[in-house]
Amino acid sequence: MPSKDLIVSIGRLKKERRAAIVAHCYQPGEVQDLADMVGDSYALAKFCAASEAETIVFCGVLFMAESAKVMSPEKTVLLPERDAGCPMADMVGPERVREMRRSHPGAAAVCYINTSAAVKAECDVCVTSSNAAKVLGSDSIKERDVIFLPDRNLGAYLAARIPGRNFILYDGYCPVHQAMRPADVAEARAELPGAPLLAHPECAPEVLALADFVGSTTQMIDYVAGYEGKAVIVATEMGVRHNMGRLRPDLTVRFVGGSVDAGADAVNGAKAMCGPDGVICPDMKRITPEGVHRSLSEGTHEIALDEGVRLRAKRCLDRMMELGG
Ligand code: 13P
Ligand code: SF4
Repeated sequence: MPSKDLIVSIGRLKKERRAAIVAHCYQPGEVQDLADMVGDSYALAKFCAASEAETIVFCGVLFMAESAKVMSPEKTVLLPERDAGCPMADMVGPERVREMRRSHPGAAAVCYINTSAAVKAECDVCVTSSNAAKVLGSDSIKERDVIFLPDRNLGAYLAARIPGRNFILYDGYCPVHQAMRPADVAEARAELPGAPLLAHPECAPEVLALADFVGSTTQMIDYVAGYEGKAVIVATEMGVRHNMGRLRPDLTVRFVGGSVDAGADAVNGAKAMCGPDGVICPDMKRITPEGVHRSLSEGTHEIALDEGVRLRAKRCLDRMMELGG
């Protein structure tokens, strides 16, 4: 728990800097409690674009803070921990996108929001887990062939649900969600028979096949808010427990554990922390209340983007906002 003094000082600095603090649903609970807005990637991107704050302290990972800067170059965007990255976003760079476009001329290049600004700059449209079906189902995307990157799991999930398009999938994945296996779901189900399984679309297809509901972090939290049963099983990072617990303190929330740490070591040195009771994204847990305070008082770490890259990445994000609602 942060001290009262620290919380007061954060409030004072926020006022001085005319700052807003935003936090992704996977952030530590005590960081979420400091935020003006907590949400999934899409909700945070929209909030930052509309916010009148002069400074945004982004409690999340690099690609999210970059997206805020892409949309609002006039704002100072701060990521309290420079090393808070996303191993999946790091699996693809701009050169690889250019290569894929050369190999598939005529295909639309669609990127998940979990990509760098440099990758977005090479793509036609961006999607998040909450709006991907809507964006890709839109008639305004005329191309039948769609290069989808980097998440092979979200890509396969969409390919099975969006008729009339041919998906060319990149082979990236989230080490956190990839770690969850059907055996881990079975273990949770044995403890809570009859409880619905809510899963994030970054989970492997064999886990998604078992799910009763598939959605973004915010969509899963909303499901819980409207759910009348006594227990749910959740296949995503454990940070969502904070909001779920606040909305439904009486509900049993059992997270799906991770039994396989599929390749996480090889990426960014970040290891999905797997246990039988859930999986944690180490990058999402780097930010602390002390880090938020430092960020506000010292202006660390400011996101800066090449203006050409920013403008091209903005086209990609603007198209998402236009089609994603
Ligand atoms: P959401 O868009 O659902 O918040 O997901 C982002 C993410 O990084 C999930 O791993
Ligand atoms: Fe990236 Fe996965 Fe962590 Fe989300 S949970 S930030 S996709 S590594």
